[in-house]
Amino acid sequence: MLRRARFELPLQEQWALLQRVGELHVGGADASGEPIVRVLHHAIADDALWFHGAPGEKNRLVGRRVAISAHELVARIPSYARDPQRACPATTYFRSVAGRGRFERVEEASAKAMGMQALMERLQPEGGYQPIHHDDSLYHSALKGLPVYRIRLDHMVGKAKLGQHLAGPEIERIVLALWKRGGEGDLAAIRTILEAHPAKPWPDVFRGPGPVRLIVHCTLRERAQAGRLLEGQYWTQGQELASLEKVHELSPAWVGALNPEGDLVGMARAQSDRYRRAYVMDTVVTPAVRGRGVGTALMKLLLNHPWVREVASVGLATKNAGPFYRRLGFRSDDGFSLYRRSQ
Ligand SMILES: CC(C)(COP(=O)(O)OP(=O)(O)OC[C@H]1O[C@@H](n2cnc3c(N)ncnc32)[C@H](O)[C@@H]1OP(=O)(O)O)[C@@H](O)C(=O)NCCC(=O)NCCS
Repeated sequence: MLRRARFELPLQEQWALLQRVGELHVGGADASGEPIVRVLHHAIADDALWFHGAPGEKNRLVGRRVAISAHELVARIPSYARDPQRACPATTYFRSVAGRGRFERVEEASAKAMGMQALMERLQPEGGYQPIHHDDSLYHSALKGLPVYRIRLDHMVGKAKLGQHLAGPEIERIVLALWKRGGEGDLAAIRTILEAHPAKPWPDVFRGPGPVRLIVHCTLRERAQAGRLLEGQYWTQGQELASLEKVHELSPAWVGALNPEGDLVGMARAQSDRYRRAYVMDTVVTPAVRGRGVGTALMKLLLNHPWVREVASVGLATKNAGPFYRRLGFRSDDGFSLYRRSQ
């Protein structure tokens, strides 16, 4: 495969990246040829990028061709993942988009309102304001005075550098180095990198019994599935489904099991300060696959998680699964169902 094609980010993913990143770099030259570059918050609506702002320097770009750039760091890959001595293999995995188009000032009130509403939905998704309509007297004068800008991109390129040129064993070494380091973003990067190499088998540490794959970062879809797994368990009685879906993203240590269809069939998580104490919660496997080792595989992965493996003690409470946890090295010190990992 041509090197370039291998690293190309498909168009749909380019737009998804523009949607995810918080802001864009927008650069161009004004009428006198002077270069200007700005970081701007943007929204996407009507197949265009929308911006707002005071009538400052960027106003000098109106009517001119500009370039935009967006970038998303996936992981800083340490050199030691590929070579124990040489610094040379150190690299960065990323996704990026660059595009070109004309920088326009939008004058029509209804278009301005639409662009600004899209911006609010992005920057304040929790709501708490009256939606922006051009015929609403609340916004009439504000919209009139507010400079709103738009770019319709007529050229876009996207790139994803995720080790596509590397062979399976090298990818495995990189993923294991990220698992060992467990720094910010490393756990999400493991998933991204493994999924960018669908033909390569996942490292043993992320394989459960049979065809089950183990993950250490969850997507929105899996958060919803995790909520359903937890719903109705004895320790979640009376809790709203919405709260059972939200907790996962905020857990420093989260592990899940996926079946071959990619559905979540089990999970466990821990709150942890990384060095002194961790507390295991929400261990659950869907009834259809219980008794096949999925729960044990999840717990072993959780105990080996960067946020758990170094802590002095791991606690949990259970009403019914004492023997399951005892096999994993947990002990009861006080007879009140509080178990600790044997050190
Ligand atoms: C506990 C649980 C996560 C285990 O998952 P699993 O995938 O079935 O676990 P494994 O297949 O790895 O089972 C390991 C062993 O533990 C045993 N075990 C599982 N749950 C047990 C329980 N509640 N009490 C006693 N033993 C249990 C299994 O029988 C199995 O024994 P075996 O190997 O001799 O057959 C699962 O049973 C579950 O989701 N239960 C409901 C939710 C729950 O109670 N979670 C624990 C809250 S603290």
